[in-house]
Order: sequence, then C-alpha cells, then structure tokens
Amino acid sequence: MAKTLLIGANSTIAQALQENSDREFICLARSEGNLNLDGDLSELDDVTDINGLVYFPGTINLKPFTMLKEDDFLNDFKVNVLGAAKVVKKVINQLKESEGASVVFISSVAANIGLPFHASIGASKSALEGMARSLAAEYTNAKVCFNVVAPSLTDTSLSTNLLKTDRLVEASKERNPMKEIGDPQKVAKTIDFLLDAHKNWMTGQVIHVDGGMNNLK
Ligand SMILES: NC(=O)c1ccc[n+]([C@@H]2O[C@H](COP(=O)([O-])OP(=O)(O)OC[C@H]3O[C@@H](n4cnc5c(N)ncnc54)[C@H](OP(=O)(O)O)[C@@H]3O)[C@@H](O)[C@H]2O)c1
Repeated sequence: MAKTLLIGANSTIAQALQENSDREFICLARSEGNLNLDGDLSELDDVTDINGLVYFPGTINLKPFTMLKEDDFLNDFKVNVLGAAKVVKKVINQLKESEGASVVFISSVAANIGLPFHASIGASKSALEGMARSLAAEYTNAKVCFNVVAPSLTDTSLSTNLLKTDRLVEASKERNPMKEIGDPQKVAKTIDFLLDAHKNWMTGQVIHVDGGMNNLK
C-alpha cells in the first residue's frame, strides 16, 4: 500500500492523525533528528511509493506589529511556506507516479480574517494558501491534489501559552462562534478526509475547521 509522508510528524495534530487513521505513514520530524528544513532535504531522497503528504511545521508568533522584527517575518515564512515548497519539490515526482495523490497543508484562521498581533503569521499562512491554490492548478493534470485545513485556536503544544490559565481558556472560547477551543482530533479527521481528495474530486480548497470563526459574526 502506498504511504503518506508526514513532515513535522511530532506535532500534536500529526500525532492525532496517526492515532486515528488506518493509513501507513512515513514520519519525519525535527525532534526525531530526521528532518532539517534548513538543509537540502536529502533525508527525502529515499522516500518512494507515497500517495500522500501532510506538511505540519508551523509557528504562532503573536506580537504587536511594532515588536515584529524582519527576522520574525523571515522565520515564519521559512517554517510555514518555504519548508512546504522545498518538501513538495523533493517529492513531487514520487507523488505524480502514484496516479492520484493528495497533499495537505495546515493554514490558520488568521490567513483570512484580521486578528490583532497576527501580521507575521497571517502573512505566511495566506502565502501558504496562495501557494496551495497555484500548485493545485499546476498539478491537476498530473493527478496531484492540493488542499488546506485552516483551524482556529486549537489545544496543542503550539498554543500552550495562549491557553495557560482558565481565564485565557474561557476568553478564547467566548471569542469562538461555537464557544469551543479546537480539538486536534477534529482537525486530524479533516486532514484524513483530504488525504483522499483525489478520490473525492477536490483540489485547491481551504477547509475551515474553526467553530465558524472564519464565516460567522
Ligand atoms: N494550535 C493552533 O492553535 C493552530 C491554529 C492554526 C494553525 N495551526 C497550525 O497547525 C500546524 C501544527 O501545529 P500544532 O498546533 O499541532 O502545534 P505543535 O504540536 O507545536 O506542532 C508544530 C510543529 O512544528 C514543528 N516545527 C516548528 N518549527 C520547525 C522547524 N524549523 N523545522 C521542523 N519542524 C518545525 C515542530 O516540530 P518538532 O516537534 O519536531 O520540534 C512541531 O511539531 C502548524 O502548521 C500550525 O501553524 C495551529
């Protein structure tokens, strides 16, 4: 059976995907010592027989605009966008060979709605969504689908600081139309669904798993 490549496989949402999916995964993560996004990604040279890719690495770098340095923007872009581009470049021929492959990127509600202190991460996640749509168009004939999941605040390692007190948790719930914090399992479920995008006639989509945050007032 063709496998799914997980980049950033130790992320909380990636772990939830692995726990709840029947797929076979190839797992690469910085914290496992088998992924260096700053390098030439030669660790991907031996990856074969894949029909899926999920790119998880991301940041939540929230600061008032005047506090954001050029390096913040560059680092957020490198981790969220450039890393994804480099990985896709490395494995696109393998994905094409499978004659029906699906790539999933993880964006954020901040790509599409204005939230204070999100100038850098919002810029990077918007860029990721733009890249996904362009790649979806470029690779339809090659039968490689590109889709995006865009969660709002979800309870993971990345959001620990934003949810570290009961007061912060309650305030975050209150800001959400469905009055909940995101559950990594629910985000993972949508990723699992999008890994069958080719079978389901879907490409170039951004799916908002966000309790209505993107579309409701
Ligand atoms: N949690 C939220 O509220 C939320 C909301 C919207 C979008 N997202 C997105 O969801 C995705 C998954 O994040 P998560 O919420 O599951 O948080 P997480 O558990 O903290 O996962 C983030 C992952 O990014 C990886 N990473 C960061 N910088 C990296 C680098 N330079 N090289 C390689 N890996 C790097 C980390 O890898 P290691 O563990 O190997 O160090 C970590 O596993 C991210 O793209 C994030 O932007 C999350």
